[in-house]
Amino acid sequence: METKELFQKLSMLAAEIDYDIYVVGGYVRDLQLGSPGKDIDFVVIGDAMRFADYLKKNLQISNLVQYQRFGTFMMTYAGYQLEFVNARKESYEDTSRKPQTQQADLYTDLSRRDFTINTLAMDISKEKYGEIIDVYDGIRDLKHGIIRTPLQPEQTFYDDPLRMMRAVRFATRFGFQIDSKIFEAIRKENERLSIVSQERITEEFNKILMANQPSRGLHLLDETELLQVFLPEMAAMKGVEQKKNFHHKDVFYHTLEVVDNIAEQNGTLQLRLAALLHDVGKPRTKRFDQESGWTFYGHEIVGERMANAILKRMRYSNEIIQYVKKLTKLHLRPMALVDEDVTDSAIRRVMFNAGEELEDLMDLCRADITSKNPQRVERFLDNYDQVVKKMAEVEERDRIRNFQPPVNGVEIMELFNLEAGPRVGKIKKFIENAILDGQVSNEHDACVEYLMQHKEELLD
Ligand code: CTP
Repeated sequence: METKELFQKLSMLAAEIDYDIYVVGGYVRDLQLGSPGKDIDFVVIGDAMRFADYLKKNLQISNLVQYQRFGTFMMTYAGYQLEFVNARKESYEDTSRKPQTQQADLYTDLSRRDFTINTLAMDISKEKYGEIIDVYDGIRDLKHGIIRTPLQPEQTFYDDPLRMMRAVRFATRFGFQIDSKIFEAIRKENERLSIVSQERITEEFNKILMANQPSRGLHLLDETELLQVFLPEMAAMKGVEQKKNFHHKDVFYHTLEVVDNIAEQNGTLQLRLAALLHDVGKPRTKRFDQESGWTFYGHEIVGERMANAILKRMRYSNEIIQYVKKLTKLHLRPMALVDEDVTDSAIRRVMFNAGEELEDLMDLCRADITSKNPQRVERFLDNYDQVVKKMAEVEERDRIRNFQPPVNGVEIMELFNLEAGPRVGKIKKFIENAILDGQVSNEHDACVEYLMQHKEELLD
């Protein structure tokens, strides 16, 4: 169904019960930018709950969900995701996060919205179809690429402090500037972000990370000091120290480049998070050595622990947490394989440890190559290619990834006449290590023979 047909139908139904409805928010904004979506918000001048009942009856809609307390309802219809809300005056109390909903007219509703570019409304009545209502110069701000609030910014952010993150998100996604007055208000009010639920903060943060160039947003989060509020471990990555002739890279800016490199390849959210946190252990492990300069020994292990705590706190899924921990822990290993005298066994072990995440780990390693010195970049890229080649050779020879040792626990119990228990696990580990070390080939009969040769020491 054409959008126009949809709008006319809904507007006609509203008129039948003497209500007006307007299209508002992101849809109207994106329409002006030339890319309207299928997610559409409407304001109902009237009682949204009554309109919901009327739609249910007249359009035979079964998937309509009502939230009486918030005066809002949602439904999918003809492939569109539609949300209707009473014209409202929404405000967040200091202590309570629950919005109070009151009836108010369209203009008041628009004034309570976050940014001028989101305050545009479209008339869809028969008489004025397509007319844009632009009370706060939203079209001008869209043209100039400016994020501004319709009211005093303190008021807008007081109503919902998450909007401070939304300002950063829209600026990042559209490449807009945040108006200087708004920017200052965020810097002043940033602490109030802490009254917002972690889930909402994380959802906004994900959208920033999923932008084409996440570094823009990460810079803004840093400059507004919002980052300090919800991710202080990243803010701590900033800064460079110089001692004698030694200085180290600024870990924060390096990280931003790595995240952008992953975004350029359209990386998944979890890979972007791994890029974000892979060096998070560096500030805590930084030491100065008189001879070799700055070192970060063990930062991948400290980083793995920190990533775990950060991602848990930010309510990420267990699957994402395990993934990011794994990549953080392993991120130095592949490039260490470039040395001439590295054995096949060392290569097999990295591949085995990375398992299904090997490609992503290698993408991270490649993205991690950042330097202002083109010769260094070239040398590292060459090393990277060598490691990839070595891995391909080993993989072709022994199909080592995701491998299960060809002798399983049941067979081990039979061979050694054992009951189930820790000893069986130990023997399994023994054969696994022997395969990874290249002592025995990855085949059933060879492994059984190898086990029998070591029977005595194993049962000892
Ligand atoms: N809105 C607001 N304050 C918020 C969240 C939303 O004022 N904290 C208003 C804005 O007018 C926004 C509309 O509600 O345009 C819809 O919100 P949402 O769906 O979150 O964002 P969109 O602007 O539609 O953008 P997108 O769908 O691209 O995320």
